[in-house]
Amino acid sequence: MSQFYNSIAEKYDAIFPLSPAHKVFFDAEVYGKTVLDVGAGTGNLTAYLRAQGYDVTAIDLSKALIAQATAKDIEVQELNMLAIDTLPMLDTIINIGNTLPHLDNKDEVQTFLKKAYNQLTQGGKLILQMVNFEKYFAQKEGNFLGNLPLIENEKVKFERSYHLNREGKVVFKTVLDETIANEELLQPILSEELTLWLSQIGFKDLKLYGNFKKEPFNPETSMALIVIAQK
Ligand SMILES: C[S@@+](CC[C@H](N)C(=O)[O-])C[C@H]1O[C@@H](n2cnc3c(N)ncnc32)[C@H](O)[C@@H]1O
Repeated sequence: MSQFYNSIAEKYDAIFPLSPAHKVFFDAEVYGKTVLDVGAGTGNLTAYLRAQGYDVTAIDLSKALIAQATAKDIEVQELNMLAIDTLPMLDTIINIGNTLPHLDNKDEVQTFLKKAYNQLTQGGKLILQMVNFEKYFAQKEGNFLGNLPLIENEKVKFERSYHLNREGKVVFKTVLDETIANEELLQPILSEELTLWLSQIGFKDLKLYGNFKKEPFNPETSMALIVIAQK
């Protein structure tokens, strides 16, 4: 993983800026005072929420992305999301930007979800956002699952595609500025299994959306899967 994020760290903010839709969504959805930003990356959501008055703990595993956050004076701790049980209790836990599929397997995903539940105060919220992998599996041709939308602006060109390997993992292939090729393995997570695990753990009042504008989640067409779950 470190090589993947090392290679894009300097351009990360040009590739994945915090959108106006993110701000409106989190303005409405963050519960309580203490917030955990899991996989905070270069810290943009963390900085936004701190500016709104929340007490935000930010964690990530990539030294290169944490260094980018530090350069902007945004504190992000180096901590694995599987170690959130070492943190104090929280009112809202956020895990967005396809961070959860970076775990190695479905057991680890369920372990994270259980730890998130235990770490939340009563009434607390877990907010998850990842790629809607179902859409890509539905269009599978051989091992090719399709291209993700091209990200291109005055600072960066970022090409992305998904491929399935023999172990059922998604190989996320990228090309930055037509020169730096890289790949990362992702554990696909589907909406039905995710909502089942959350319910079994004890989460209630699950809400699913297909993007940060809160359009309904449609497994066939949505780009993202967003789940809000309450303890
Ligand atoms: C695609 S980025 C998303 C960053 C940010 N949340 C966003 O929405 O732009 C995924 C992030 O997850 C981090 N990450 C991957 N595995 C992790 C783990 N086990 N614990 C904590 N962070 C992890 C990566 O370093 C990276 O910053």
